[in-house]
Amino acid sequence: MRMYDIIQKKRNGNELTKEEINFFIEGYTKGEIPDYQASALCMAIYFNGMTSDETVALTLAMAHSGDMMDLSSIPGETVDKHSTGGVGDKTTLIVAPIAAALGCKVAKMSGRGLGHTGGTVDKLESIPGFKVELPPDFFFAQVNAIGLSVIGQSGNLTPADKKLYALRDVTATVESIPLIASSIISKKLAGGSKNIVLDVKCGSGAFMKTPEAARELAKVMVDIGNKAGRKTTAVITNMDIPLGKYIGNSLEVIEAIEVLNGGGCKDLRELCIVLAATMYSSCFGASYEDSRAKVIEVIENGEALNKLAEMVKAQGGDKGLIFHPENFEKSRYSYEIKAKTSGYIEKMDTEKIGISSSLLGAGREKKEDSIDYKAGIILGKKTGDYVTEGETLATLFTDKEERIEKSEKTFLEALTFSDIKPKEEILVYEIIK
Ligand code: URA
Repeated sequence: MRMYDIIQKKRNGNELTKEEINFFIEGYTKGEIPDYQASALCMAIYFNGMTSDETVALTLAMAHSGDMMDLSSIPGETVDKHSTGGVGDKTTLIVAPIAAALGCKVAKMSGRGLGHTGGTVDKLESIPGFKVELPPDFFFAQVNAIGLSVIGQSGNLTPADKKLYALRDVTATVESIPLIASSIISKKLAGGSKNIVLDVKCGSGAFMKTPEAARELAKVMVDIGNKAGRKTTAVITNMDIPLGKYIGNSLEVIEAIEVLNGGGCKDLRELCIVLAATMYSSCFGASYEDSRAKVIEVIENGEALNKLAEMVKAQGGDKGLIFHPENFEKSRYSYEIKAKTSGYIEKMDTEKIGISSSLLGAGREKKEDSIDYKAGIILGKKTGDYVTEGETLATLFTDKEERIEKSEKTFLEALTFSDIKPKEEILVYEIIK
């Protein structure tokens, strides 16, 4: 078999066989197929797409390119949740403890933030002492004992995806449904959980800009997940506004605690209820309405917050902060951005707001960059709110005063004002099974 022929076949719009796809993934993972041929194939896939059989074959080949987590030592219903990425998305910190409080087994591996989006692992590390690297035996034992552990991606999981994703990032081939779907689902399959809940974002801050595109991606991912023997559900949600009001690592932990305490911003709370209910319903077959009621119950009786505290303690973190988030260390500088005009906020460019937060030190440009866990933004106003001139739009937090000016400029560029009240944003478009 020759890589040249595989590229040519896909370029001409023909269907690749499972053997050809395996040849590509194995060869590329081992370094036998060079980046230039892999990128040519990605571009051919970008233009010509893939059939369902091809996408399944690609996903399975990628999932098996490295270690597969074996969760068989965890009895019960294991469940994983994945978000296609966003700004202010701290849902894992909320839904994982809720699901565990309801009896699901959450053995979850999460990623770090890159560019304008945040990552759960960085958020957890903002809790002093919290260890995101656990030996596998500890990880399994913790899930068996308390139903919950969230760690960083360890070992040699989906090396094909690591290489391909980095290549796609620099060859303009990220926004391809079969490539995104195989990238995400291969990681979930390697993660080992029986149930998978996908939060597929659409809007300005997401890869999929419209609900239609997100629906197409969701359908493909649900199809592959189910074909691979995992019960897979996708929730299509809005990423046209940042989720909640807090952006930045420890700030997002604080907001997650607010939601688990029964408070928090309406959109964040509602999305977490939907996702956690979907996780519970997938695990135990309960109706969506009953699942929602269960979720609300463990928030209101404090069991979900206690579950988060249990996990923090088990992983070496300062559990006291979960009950006293006011004790999180604060940034040296805080700065209020004032509105220069009056009017309704018509739109918020979520990606720009993420960049504005990154500029304060909350994110990294390159993988090796270090981050300031305290840095970030608390939004005073969101899309649809009326603002009068001089009112606070947002507060910036940083240890580096010189970064405030650029961050403020970027933040203000992200907002569009109007005299007319905009239509209320839809939060959840659809649940696809
Ligand atoms: N997230 C992933 O993990 N992979 C993609 O291709 C896009 C988003």
